[in-house]
Amino acid sequence: MAADTLCQTPYGDFRLLRYPSRRDEPLLAWCAADLLLLEALHSREVDPGQVLVVNDDHGALCVALQARALWTDSALAVLALQRNLQQNDRAEVPVVWSTEAPAAGQDPVALRIPKQLPYFEYQLALLASLLEPGATLLAAGMDKHLSPRVVELLEHHIGPTRRHRGERKARLFSSIRDDRPAAPVPAPSSYYCDAVGGELRALPNVFSRDKLDGGSRLLLQQLPALGPATTLLDLACGNGVLGLAAFRAGLAPAVVFVDESAMAVASARVNSAGLFPGDASAFTFGQGDGLANYRGPQADLILCNPPFHLQHTVDDYAGRRLLEQCALHLQPGGRLCLVANQHLDYLPTLKRLFQRVDRLARDRRFIVWLARRG
Ligand SMILES: C[S@@+](CC[C@H](N)C(=O)[O-])C[C@H]1O[C@@H](n2cnc3c(N)ncnc32)[C@H](O)[C@@H]1O
Repeated sequence: MAADTLCQTPYGDFRLLRYPSRRDEPLLAWCAADLLLLEALHSREVDPGQVLVVNDDHGALCVALQARALWTDSALAVLALQRNLQQNDRAEVPVVWSTEAPAAGQDPVALRIPKQLPYFEYQLALLASLLEPGATLLAAGMDKHLSPRVVELLEHHIGPTRRHRGERKARLFSSIRDDRPAAPVPAPSSYYCDAVGGELRALPNVFSRDKLDGGSRLLLQQLPALGPATTLLDLACGNGVLGLAAFRAGLAPAVVFVDESAMAVASARVNSAGLFPGDASAFTFGQGDGLANYRGPQADLILCNPPFHLQHTVDDYAGRRLLEQCALHLQPGGRLCLVANQHLDYLPTLKRLFQRVDRLARDRRFIVWLARRG
C-alpha cells in the first residue's frame, strides 16, 4: 500500500515525497524523529528561518522550517529537498556539503543523527568549533537506530545534554554548547590496498573506509579477466577502490568516478591524486544520483558494487535503479561488472536489461556478474 504523503507539522501541513520513490511508494518521506525536532523547535519559539538543519533525509525539516541552510553529505537528500520545496511552493534552501563547514554561531541546530557513528562524531566536532557558547543543538533519531553512545558524544563535543522522554519510537536530545575548546575533528581513516598499490583514505561517511569490503575484493579478483576499455565508469565509487585498481591494472586510460555522497567523491579524488599524481587528467568525478545526469561518452565498461540498503533496511531497489542507468549509458557491446550480496537477486533485472549475463565468481557471501549489452 502506498504511504501517506501529507506530513502534519506545527509549521503547517506539507506534501512530501521521497527521492527516489517507486510507484505506490510504501515508505514515508519523514519519520517520528523529524516530527520530534519540529515540535521541540516550535515549542521553544525558535525563529525557523535561522535553523541550521543537518542530515535531513527527504526535506521534511527544511520544508517545514524554510530553514537557513541544510548541511548534508547526500545528493539524493538534496534532490528530495528540491522536489519537495517546489511541490510545496517554498523558497530555495541553501545547501552546504558535508565536506565544507557551515556557518553556525548562535543559531539553533536541528540534527538527524546519522547511521555512521564516526560521521556523527565528525559533525559534532566541527559544529563544536563553530557554535558559540549558549547555542542550542537539538538531535533526534529513531530508537532502533540510536547508538548507546549518543549522549556521551553530545556531552563530549557540545556540552550539557538532556535525553528527553522517548515518543513514537523516536528520541530527542538537547545540548547547549559550553565554553570548552572544541575537541579535534577525527582524522580520515585509511588502509593499505594491494590492488591499488598504496593507502586508500576516506572521510567518515564513506562505505568500508577502514578495510576492503568482501564484495569489492571478489570483484577485484575478476579484473584480469575483463578485457580493456576506453571509457570506464566506477559507479557508486565510495573511496574509488574499484576504478583505481582497474586503472593500475591498465584496464582503461581514464576513469569516471560517480557517487551520491560528497565525502565519497572527495575521498576518491584525494586517492586518485595521491596514488597517481601524474595522471590528473585521466580522472573525472561526479556527485549525483548515479548516472541520471551523466553527460560523458557512453561507457564500454562499468564497475559497480551497488548500495544494498534503503535507509536502514537491506533492499535491492537502490541497486536495481543503478542497473537501469547502466543499461542506458553502455555502448553496444559494453559490459557491466557487478558484485552483489547473495541474498539480493539481481539476475532477473540483469536478464531483462542486458543481452547476455554470465556469472564470473561466487563465494560464501557475494556473486560477481558480467552483463553485456548487445
Ligand atoms: C556498497 S558501496 C560501494 C563503494 C565502493 N565502490 C567499494 O567497492 O568500496 C555503495 C556506494 O553507493 C553509493 N550510492 C548509493 N546510492 C547511490 C546513487 N543513487 N548514486 C550514486 N551512488 C550511490 C553510496 O554512497 C556508496 O558509496
